[in-house]
Amino acid sequence: MSSSSQASQQVPGSEFKEKLPLRDGFSTRLGVILATLGSAVGLGNIWKFPTLTGSSGGAVFIIIYIISVLLIGIPVMVSELAIGRSARANAVDSMRASTPNKAPWWLIGALGILSAFLIMGFYTEVAGWVFAYIFKAMSGSILSTSSEVTTAAFTSLVTNPVLSLVWQWVDLVIVGAVILFGVSKGIERVTKTLIPVLLVLLIVVAIRSLTLPGAGEGLEFLFKPDLSKVTASTLLAGVGLAFFKLSIGMGAMITYGSYFRQDQNISGTALRVAFSDMSIALLAGVAIFPAVFAYGFQPDAGPSLVFLTIPSVFASMPAGNFFMVIFFILTFIASIGAQVSLLEVLVSYVNEHLKLNRKAATIYSVLGLAVFGSLAALSSSLLSNVKLFGLTFFDLFDFTSSNIFLPVGGLFICIFVGWVWGKEKFFAAMTNNGTLNNKGFVSFLFFLIRFVSPVLVLLVLLNGLGVFS
Ligand code: PHE
Repeated sequence: MSSSSQASQQVPGSEFKEKLPLRDGFSTRLGVILATLGSAVGLGNIWKFPTLTGSSGGAVFIIIYIISVLLIGIPVMVSELAIGRSARANAVDSMRASTPNKAPWWLIGALGILSAFLIMGFYTEVAGWVFAYIFKAMSGSILSTSSEVTTAAFTSLVTNPVLSLVWQWVDLVIVGAVILFGVSKGIERVTKTLIPVLLVLLIVVAIRSLTLPGAGEGLEFLFKPDLSKVTASTLLAGVGLAFFKLSIGMGAMITYGSYFRQDQNISGTALRVAFSDMSIALLAGVAIFPAVFAYGFQPDAGPSLVFLTIPSVFASMPAGNFFMVIFFILTFIASIGAQVSLLEVLVSYVNEHLKLNRKAATIYSVLGLAVFGSLAALSSSLLSNVKLFGLTFFDLFDFTSSNIFLPVGGLFICIFVGWVWGKEKFFAAMTNNGTLNNKGFVSFLFFLIRFVSPVLVLLVLLNGLGVFS
């Protein structure tokens, strides 16, 4: 758990660099990929991707999201990982150490800390709902194809202030406990086991959903684009989702990069993670939308969508209740994969920069999040009338993090890597000091990072904020 226990070990794969500072890190290459994928998958695929796809017009939105992953997401992701692995420190100190002069590029890391608070603010609440649903599923009370029954169950949970807070705090304690075990024994071990199981169950749900009568309408919604639905806000939401999904623009990937093995192929890892994550999102779409249409739910129901439709899918299949319990357990575990990466941004900063030990850093971070997150937890009950810019705290945290903070963070990371950190250091990191045979691809990525991704992000951001209209 403490860094001293690592002192006698060599940093895995460190033959490419001498005398690395000894620090906990991911131990195997597969562990690196799965932990990074665990951060990406999270609740984003099962909850946020369907929610946004449903409210933003379906297929067209998915296309925007996929293009954003390719042209913006992957370049930003490799930039963050490269910086983190080269500097081997938390997001703020990695940025500071990578800056050749006194310019305040560390502010990107600081912005990331703020984003971690905003995202965890609402994310812990959704994870709390998922946790609560494990028990609701066990009791059998939500196993119904009637939209009235599933809607009433969800409403009674979110409008109850005590339950909302308790489930959120339970979730925070669990995430904190994983983080306390450290990077290799906590984060890596937990995420390594969950992804394969989650995948299998998602496939089972998708098959059931696809064989429901009326499933075709859902597939059409998912895969038949209606170009009239492209607006400034769907563009921004698509780019925002790419950032959110890949956990980029806020230092989580700088932090995870700092735990990467020195012999890890950064671009290969990023590609695998991005494509797997996208496939899992589409699979979740196939699991959910046919059921939405088959049972007469509204695709634009918002954050409640998954909690209403999933029980209906299970209610219509043999041994449905058993599978539903497993489904919510796995979804909860998936949420942990992402939450540990968010919390680790805070904990690594407090631990390394403010020099508190890992335990104290975790406790303070969790307490801070419990206080801050209660604003989101109470958004459907006591604070439902408190709105800023017309949004409850829950929606505000969600909207501003994905649609403003992460893109702004990503924009500056591209500018930093492309124009300040520079070609030489980027190439050294991406080719593992010339030992990998991937120069052509790295050149292409560098071109995207310098010229394409930042311009696209800036245009979409300004457009989405109404500057051009
Ligand atoms: N990628 C995670 C998800 O889709 C959310 C996340 C965002 C995690 C930013 C870390 C950092 O659920």
